[in-house]
Amino acid sequence: MIEGCQESAFPANSSTNYLSVIPTAARAASLPEYTPFPYGVASGDPLPDAVIIWTMLDSLAARTDSSIVWQLSRSPEFTPPLRSDTITVTAAHHYRLKEDVRGLQPGTAYYYRFGHRGKWSRTGRTRTAPAREFRGQVRLGVVSCNALEWGYFNAFEVMAQEPFDAIIHLGDYIYEYASGAYGDTTIGRLHYPRHEVVTARDYHQRYAQYRRDPQLQLAHANHPFICVWDDHEVANNSHTKGAENHNPELEGDYLTRMTAARAIYYDWMPVRERASGELYRSFEFGQTADLYMLDERLAARTAPAADFSLAALEDTTKHILGQRQLSWLSGELATATGHWQLIGNQVLFAKLDLSNILPQYAVNLDAWDGFRHEKSQLIDSLRKYRNPNTVFLTGDTHCSWYFEVEPSVDQAPPLAHEFGTPSVSSANYDEFIQGWDTLTVAKYRLYRDNPHLQFTNLSDHGFLVLDITPEKLSATFRFLKDIRKPDLREKSHKTFLLDYVHHHAR
Ligand SMILES: [Fe+2]
Repeated sequence: MIEGCQESAFPANSSTNYLSVIPTAARAASLPEYTPFPYGVASGDPLPDAVIIWTMLDSLAARTDSSIVWQLSRSPEFTPPLRSDTITVTAAHHYRLKEDVRGLQPGTAYYYRFGHRGKWSRTGRTRTAPAREFRGQVRLGVVSCNALEWGYFNAFEVMAQEPFDAIIHLGDYIYEYASGAYGDTTIGRLHYPRHEVVTARDYHQRYAQYRRDPQLQLAHANHPFICVWDDHEVANNSHTKGAENHNPELEGDYLTRMTAARAIYYDWMPVRERASGELYRSFEFGQTADLYMLDERLAARTAPAADFSLAALEDTTKHILGQRQLSWLSGELATATGHWQLIGNQVLFAKLDLSNILPQYAVNLDAWDGFRHEKSQLIDSLRKYRNPNTVFLTGDTHCSWYFEVEPSVDQAPPLAHEFGTPSVSSANYDEFIQGWDTLTVAKYRLYRDNPHLQFTNLSDHGFLVLDITPEKLSATFRFLKDIRKPDLREKSHKTFLLDYVHHHAR
């Protein structure tokens, strides 16, 4: 025990008056004014026997080699704590504590909290993944694209109060832009620092701002997250060698920027850090579903095709996953045991023809359509293992989509399905492209030009909910009324139900 941080220094129930299992907005508003943990608590990457728990000490409260106590229990009263330890945290990692708690029971809710110099954090609740033999229902939230300047994180607060096994975050967890460069500054949520984030210090300050958001904190406190980065965790349309929004003459060496952004991401996010340094990884939810989280930005992505010519689009030197990740995914799909195969995907996989709507985006070179060599390799794998219960979960576009991927002409089931989640707050098409009548565009152009498109919504924010059993997968888009003020009311929802298709591999 260090710095007087003995467990006995904390009254057993000191947290329960303001720290609830599922706090309401009113309870959140009554949080004490000072806490050494201003960024809340988080958990993530649930396995049947392990989960990551996370917090970060206020740098003003920290000293060199400060220590944090963590406790984990089956009960929110922590009587008694099941597991406990004291960990030294350092300035090198911004005083974050990230503990991979092992030896836990599968499919079980746990409560956790952190202590420092006589004060407890709020209580977090997390959940381990179900046991390998589990064949019951799994409920997942799917979310992406929370630009702070575009609006309130109402979706996160609504999600905080849903009974999820986990929340999948598909990236754009922060945005790198300067204040006013991308957003609606009239609602008064201004980026800090005001300038575009480029250095490690900048990125750290930007995450600190986002993680002070009480609605985002609630979602993290109540559910384990499974996260990947997309492009804005570094800069718009980033890849391993550069980004659309990176100017080496003004902003310096790209590799330095990307390395800094990557390290800061790991300090802030409750993701498991692996010796390989790779972020792509897989999860199992019993026999019900497997989840593959892909890294389509910083693993191996090259610069996009230079133009829409066939030679450029089919260039075999262009990568989105890279051969190593593609081989890993192909191997996972070949040996998968879950009924449903979920692919956590950043950019749209299905073909999207916008040539009659936005000719300059006739092919989205930033999405899988711009990397046809690897797209066709993954399609070949899907065909080979012929599991029609494959579902892509996609972020990035800020709009809602349901595609049948490569639909068959002979009444056979489609090769896969793809659900694109709406943004929490980042601009929809109608906010981004002034004067668009989005409904008309969607009805008369998008559906006509893309017959495999089953549904789109280009003008609402929200999230996606998956209710999965071995026999059915229900995907519900949940749309919120307003993001320009704190408001938990929902506007509408839309559900699609998929039946499990029995198949024989190969
Ligand atoms: Fe985004």
